[in-house]
Amino acid sequence: MQKPAEGHNSYRVPMARVCARLEAAGIDLGSCRALEFFAREGDWHTTTYASKVAELDAWEIDPSCEAALRKNLPDACIRIGDSFEFATQREFASQFDLIVYDNPQMFFGSCNQYCEHFEALSTLPNLMKPQAAVVFNVNRKPFDYDKWPRWQARRRQFYECPDAAQLTPEFVMDFYGWHFNRLGLTTRLAFLEPRHLSHVDYFFARLEKKGTAGIRASRAPERLQGRPDFRATNPKNSR
Ligand SMILES: C[S@@+](CC[C@H](N)C(=O)[O-])C[C@H]1O[C@@H](n2cnc3c(N)ncnc32)[C@H](O)[C@@H]1O
Repeated sequence: MQKPAEGHNSYRVPMARVCARLEAAGIDLGSCRALEFFAREGDWHTTTYASKVAELDAWEIDPSCEAALRKNLPDACIRIGDSFEFATQREFASQFDLIVYDNPQMFFGSCNQYCEHFEALSTLPNLMKPQAAVVFNVNRKPFDYDKWPRWQARRRQFYECPDAAQLTPEFVMDFYGWHFNRLGLTTRLAFLEPRHLSHVDYFFARLEKKGTAGIRASRAPERLQGRPDFRATNPKNSR
């Protein structure tokens, strides 16, 4: 994602809206242990919620970010290294109430082995407490998409649809409900919040590991169990 202009707060406002919606939904950020999985220097959006949560862990692979990250998030527990490796460590198993994947766009990793949040989401079942919330970026309409055939192919494969150039909010909501189900997680609440140039949204979901006893009375009904029908929710692609 491009760095915003100096002094520009357009990155912080959408996260402030996400926090307001979480609080309105009865999620007590003040009791959360949160993880920023892709932390960079923390000042694009992490600083927006850092003071609201009880504890914050921030992980970043690039050592050149460390000094600024410590300065921007003075109370956070910061680790410099590969978040995918940290996520396999026992000390982090079932530790977090809120996990934020501010994923890079397109491909990344030493061998370009990762794409968007597609692989990162698989770390969720290990990192989250039996009930937890997740926030990540969904690129519903990638910019300059025609130039990147490999990205197009990876997105088609992940979303299991014939064309992932433009994803409707309905498809996205259904797809992730289905995807979390595949990861062994039940979705209790989910919403999209516009983030960047109308292409990238925050996806928020409150999740529960299957088989976990929860507060049944306050549960929203499960929206989806079956695989989403791409054509039904993407009129452009209906044939
Ligand atoms: C979009 S930026 C994150 C911005 C940040 N959340 C903020 O509030 O300022 C994505 C970051 O992910 C980092 N990253 C990429 N691969 C990583 C990995 N395997 N482990 C940890 N961090 C990684 C990149 O170095 C980059 O700093």
